[in-house]
Amino acid sequence: MEKIIVEGGKRLEGELIVSGAKNAVLPLMAACILTEGVNTFTNVPDLADVRTMSEMLEILGARVEYDNGDLSIDTKKLNKWVAPYELVKTMRASVLVLGPLTARFGRARVSLPGGCAIGERPIDQHLKGLRILGAEIEIEEGYVGTVAPKLQGGVIPFDVSTVTGTENLMLSSVLSKGETILLNAACEPEVTELGQVLNEMGADIKGIGTDIITINGVSSLSPIKDHEVMPDRIEAGTFMIASALTKGDILVKNCRFENMGALIGKLIEAGADITRENGGIRVKCGNEIKSIDITTLPYPGFPTDMQAQMMTLMSIADGLSIITETIFPQRFLHAGELRRMGADIKLVGNSAVVRGVPHVSGAPTMASDLRASASLVLAGIAAEGKTDISRVYHLDRGYDKLDRKLESVGARIWREKE
Ligand code: EPZ
Repeated sequence: MEKIIVEGGKRLEGELIVSGAKNAVLPLMAACILTEGVNTFTNVPDLADVRTMSEMLEILGARVEYDNGDLSIDTKKLNKWVAPYELVKTMRASVLVLGPLTARFGRARVSLPGGCAIGERPIDQHLKGLRILGAEIEIEEGYVGTVAPKLQGGVIPFDVSTVTGTENLMLSSVLSKGETILLNAACEPEVTELGQVLNEMGADIKGIGTDIITINGVSSLSPIKDHEVMPDRIEAGTFMIASALTKGDILVKNCRFENMGALIGKLIEAGADITRENGGIRVKCGNEIKSIDITTLPYPGFPTDMQAQMMTLMSIADGLSIITETIFPQRFLHAGELRRMGADIKLVGNSAVVRGVPHVSGAPTMASDLRASASLVLAGIAAEGKTDISRVYHLDRGYDKLDRKLESVGARIWREKE
C-alpha cells in the first residue's frame, strides 16, 4: 500500500488541467447496458472507480477497452444480470447498473451497498421508483432482486433530491412503456450530462437540468460515439482551494465556470481573487483568508463533495466559521485528522465550528474517504513541516494523479510504500 508525503509551505503557481468527471462517467458507463453495440468516450479519467465499473461491465458480458482517456464499451454480448458483492462493496455507484439491467433483461440481482464512511446512504428511493415502474423487488442474502417483464411509465416523487437515484430511474424508464415523470429530481450537472447523452442515443427526455424530468419510453437506443466526458467540477474546486491556501496563482483549465457558482461565490467571500481567462478560471490570493460560513445543499447549492476541502481552508482562516452538512450529516471524519495537525474544530450535530489558527503543522494522518483524503493533501500543502497521508487508495478512486498535478505547480509531494 502507498502513502503520500507532503512538505508544506510552498506557494503554488501555474496551470492545472482538469480531468473528466468521475460522477459523470460512471452513470454514462451504466447507460451502455441499454444499447447493443460499441459505445465510445473520450476525456475519461484514469481512476480506480472507472476500472471497477469496467470490471463490472465485463462480468456482465461486455468488452471494455481503456487507453489514455479513450474508453470503448461493447455491449453486444451482454448476457448476465448479477452484480456481485465483491465489486459493489468497493464502489457504491455500482448500484447504477440496477435500473438498466432490469430494463434490458426484465430482471436484475445487485448486491446492496453496505455502510459508508461518509454516513447513512440508503437506496430506498431507487427501489421506490422501480416499484412505481412495476418492478417486483426482493431483498435476500444481501442482494436486491428485481423482476419486471416490461417496465411501465409512472410518476415518481422523490422524498429527497438524490443524484444516483435520479440517474437510476432515468436509465430505468427510457425504454419503458409510456411516460415517466420524476418529481424533485436532482439537477446536478452530471445528471444533466446523462440526460443529454441518453437523448443523443435516441431517448425522449424533457426537463433535463430541472427538478421535473419527463421521459417518454422509446423502443431502443443506439450506442453513443466519441462522447467527451464533462470536466470534474470537484477536482477543479480542489485546485482552486489549493491556490487560495498557499496564497498562490493558479489557472485552472478545462473547467466550467457555470457549474461552480456556489463554490466560486464562497471563495470570493473568503478573499480570493477569481477571474475567467484563457479558457479557464484563475485563482489568485494575496490576502489573509477570511472565515465564512458554509451550508452544503443539493445543486446549485454548495456541493457536499467540497465540504472537507473547504474545512481545510477555514482551518487557517482569520476568524470563526460554521460548516453545516445537510446532505451527509455525519460527513466529518476528516475533522479529527485536521485536529491532529493543530486545527481547532468542534463538531456540534451536523455542523463543525472551525476557529482559524495561524498555521497547521505536519503530522501522520489517515484518509477515511475520497474527499477527506483530498482535504488532508491540501492541509499538508499548507502545513509547516511534513505530513504523511496513509490509505491513499481512497484518493485514487476519484482523483486522476492529484499529487503529480500539484507537484507540477510547485508542491513538494511524493509517494512512498507504506
Ligand atoms: C452522489 O452520491 C455522488 N456520487 C456523491 O459523490 C455525492 O456526494 C452525492 O451524490 C451528493 O451530491 C456519485 O455520483 C457516484 P444522493 P449519491 O443519493 O447519489 C439520501 C464523491 O465524493 N438518500 O444524492 O449516493 C442520502 O442518504 C461522492 O464523489 C436517501 O435517503 O447521493 C443523502 O442524505 C461521495 N435514499 C441524500 O439522499 C436514497 O435512496 C443525497 O444522496 C438515496 C439517497
